[in-house]
Amino acid sequence: VENGKLAYQWASNYMSILHKIKQKNQKGNPLFGFKLGLCLHITRETSVLVMTARDLGAEIALCSANPLTVNQEICTFLSSEGINTFAWRNETDEEYNSCIRSVLDFKPDIIIDDGSDLHIAAHKYKSKRVCGGTEETTSGVKRLKSLQTKKRLLYPVIAVNNAFTKYMFDNRYGTGQSVIEGIIRATGVFLGGKKIVICGYGWVGRGVAATARGMKALVIITEIDPIRALEAYMDGFYVKPLIEVAEIGDIFITCSGQKEVIRQEHIERMKNGVILTNAGHFDVEIDVKYLKSMDCNPVRLLPYVDCYSFDGKKVYLVAQGRVVNLVCADGNPSEIMALSFANQLLSIIFIAKND
Ligand SMILES: NC(=O)c1ccc[n+]([C@@H]2O[C@H](COP(=O)([O-])OP(=O)(O)OC[C@H]3O[C@@H](n4cnc5c(N)ncnc54)[C@H](O)[C@@H]3O)[C@@H](O)[C@H]2O)c1
Repeated sequence: VENGKLAYQWASNYMSILHKIKQKNQKGNPLFGFKLGLCLHITRETSVLVMTARDLGAEIALCSANPLTVNQEICTFLSSEGINTFAWRNETDEEYNSCIRSVLDFKPDIIIDDGSDLHIAAHKYKSKRVCGGTEETTSGVKRLKSLQTKKRLLYPVIAVNNAFTKYMFDNRYGTGQSVIEGIIRATGVFLGGKKIVICGYGWVGRGVAATARGMKALVIITEIDPIRALEAYMDGFYVKPLIEVAEIGDIFITCSGQKEVIRQEHIERMKNGVILTNAGHFDVEIDVKYLKSMDCNPVRLLPYVDCYSFDGKKVYLVAQGRVVNLVCADGNPSEIMALSFANQLLSIIFIAKND
């Protein structure tokens, strides 16, 4: 408990905006009587959001937004504070889904999600009580927009991701730093002079590219949107189709939110010892199925590095293709998450006040 508490206190020092929002809204406990269901990466910063919402009167149930992004010490600390915490590190897919169902069984009034797995489950099981929700990330907003287009969205959701004070800082600067940190922590590789191929020059891609350049890597961008490709070019990056740079890249980082961006035809061309990593929300951007079809017994060389051997070469996959900054590092810095979670907290209070 003590380690989790210290980590919470450390993050809390850098998240004073949440304390200010709490002070401003403390009168009348605006969240009193509301049950919050949260599905977020369980980091020290998440514990600050959870404790602040609790102090404003909410009852809370929490699960993780990814089976591998759980800080166990934070879970222990939150449980000791009476927060219903349904998460542990290294959940199987089945356990992950059962944790989501446990949060729904808690019958939340407001759902706070990152990636929309909890929202989608709430729709599947037709949870009646939910009066509104929030969504933290680009990929989750996309899933909800598709529900809305089909007129199947059952309750209003605030797209927190789409706040300028979220994507501008979290997706770009925060993720830009923490993705590079995750790669270094997982592999220990030196980045200076390495050819790093970044797939996608959106908010996350821009941030990762800037940090990689700051580490003196040779950064190459691949992008399907011509305007963003031109932007990358004018930012001084080498911009090429992935198929043309597959054979020269040392490290590939997917930042697109799309499926199978790195596929067989790219992997076949890659050199021996190539490192593949993903910064997008879901583990769909690198075709891991193809890697598994070529080597069904990859060797775990380091806690987050699997080596696939085939065609006389080795391909190193980091974090099983899952979101590298949260699996291999601690996610985004506290100052950054203060901005994102300020948007979350204000949205939760807004939903509660307008119920
Ligand atoms: N790791 C984190 O902490 C973190 C933080 C924020 C967002 N995300 C996730 O990162 C992903 C990207 O988010 P974003 O806000 O940058 O989205 P974005 O929409 O701003 O950027 C995605 C970019 O990828 C490009 N793209 C799509 N398919 C491509 C392909 N096949 N090849 C090359 N480029 C392609 C798009 O044109 C777009 O410019 C999402 O999954 C999001 O949920 C992760």
